[in-house]
Amino acid sequence: MKILILNGSPKADNSITLQHMRFLETREPDIETEVIPIGKAINSLERNQQRFDEVTEKMRTADAVVWSFPVYYALVPSQMKRFVELLYERKGKGWFAGMYATALTTSINFFDHTAHNYVQAVCEDLGFAYVKGYSAHMDDFFKTQEREKLARFFSWFLKTVQQKTLLPKKYAGNVPEVQVFEPISAPNRDTSLSSGKDSSGKILLLTDTTDPDTNLWKMIRTFEEETRLQVDIKDIRDSGMSHGCLGCCTCGYENTCIQKDGFTRFFNDHLKTAEIILICGSIRDHYLSALWKQFFDRCFFNGHAPVLQGKQLGFMISGPLRHRQNLRELLDVFADSWHMKFRGVVTDEAADSKAVVREIKGFARTLELARETDLEFGASFYRTGGQKLFRDFIFNTTAVFTADHRFYKKSGLYATFPQRQWQRRLRNAVFALMVSIPFLRRQIHREFIPGMVAPYKKKLRRLAR
Ligand SMILES: Cc1cc2nc3c(=O)[nH]c(=O)nc-3n(C[C@H](O)[C@H](O)[C@H](O)COP(=O)(O)O)c2cc1C
Repeated sequence: MKILILNGSPKADNSITLQHMRFLETREPDIETEVIPIGKAINSLERNQQRFDEVTEKMRTADAVVWSFPVYYALVPSQMKRFVELLYERKGKGWFAGMYATALTTSINFFDHTAHNYVQAVCEDLGFAYVKGYSAHMDDFFKTQEREKLARFFSWFLKTVQQKTLLPKKYAGNVPEVQVFEPISAPNRDTSLSSGKDSSGKILLLTDTTDPDTNLWKMIRTFEEETRLQVDIKDIRDSGMSHGCLGCCTCGYENTCIQKDGFTRFFNDHLKTAEIILICGSIRDHYLSALWKQFFDRCFFNGHAPVLQGKQLGFMISGPLRHRQNLRELLDVFADSWHMKFRGVVTDEAADSKAVVREIKGFARTLELARETDLEFGASFYRTGGQKLFRDFIFNTTAVFTADHRFYKKSGLYATFPQRQWQRRLRNAVFALMVSIPFLRRQIHREFIPGMVAPYKKKLRRLAR
């Protein structure tokens, strides 16, 4: 059996994920494998069409393809994202019909599921029968039980391929395209707000296109006219990025990126100083562009500290976002896990150009009103869960993520470890002792519901005074 492994890690042979594949090779000596270093070779694959065709031919003639990659910002690394775009551009949907694929990732399990969802959606578009993938924590490799679980998964995958089991799809293949946005032709357009900008607030608007024929650019210009705030448009192609993130983690010590190409300066000069950030992009396959993905990956030099905390964040998206729930969730994750004040999303999905203009206008008003009221939502699972996960991770990797460690210590994030909360633990121990006595337990539970709400009622009475 021939298995083709697409290695999405920019670290190529030094990929942790790849070591998992190597382990699986030892457990399945009858299979023949070949690894394609997509993450490392993306530039030459893009430039050299013949080389690219050789890879896709190998994908087509193998019995199955394994997408092996590290989770980077809740998705595949930008290099692999670009490879996906090339598959759509040069081969197209259904090209791999009848083939089988799966995914193997390593990560610290932060939004690994969205990365898997993404690869599944892409594979289904390309025609692959997709076998549910495997997400390993990067430390699992050293636990016998976890390795055995992984080996059983792979054996199940190979048998599924051998038996050509029919697999249900998770995602709808065809979604309606958005219409061409023509703001000029929209009648009765109120342009009274296009003059007299409020100089007290400036929006940093980041875009990956300035092509006047795109819906996105027309949306940007419409927004610029409609908002009362000043807009500073920056094209992320000018952000100085020469490559994607290399995954070297050198940034962990002092938050300085090993790539001296100007991106850090762009981030520090523009994003760190902004009050409101508007991210504008068009949907490419099941995400934004690989360029946007590269931009996000390169933000890793900031480590796990929420350096944009408190800033306002909105999105302007061209494309069928309502049919891309995985991406929609990622936009929410972005705002919440970066501790930013979420200002919403506007798209060009409305029925006609007039309606799109109305939505952009509404978005501009929402943004201004939220700014005036300093609107901030409570932390959701994304922030709360993520913060705990990162806290535990940083606590155990202080030698590499030294800068994060300093930040977590200084901002009291380690104090949230439950074992450090002595009063709570003491109260709980006393309560546990009491409920272990059957008579007391019956008494307590008779009063449990009113007892639980009593402190809230007491506080409310105090606040009402
Ligand atoms: C730029 C970057 C982004 C990352 N983003 C995530 C993430 O969103 N979720 C997660 O669980 N781990 C994340 N990680 C951790 C990697 O997924 C993890 O270290 C992985 O095991 C590396 O695998 P590799 O050696 O095969 O490249 C990120 C690491 C880097 C360098």
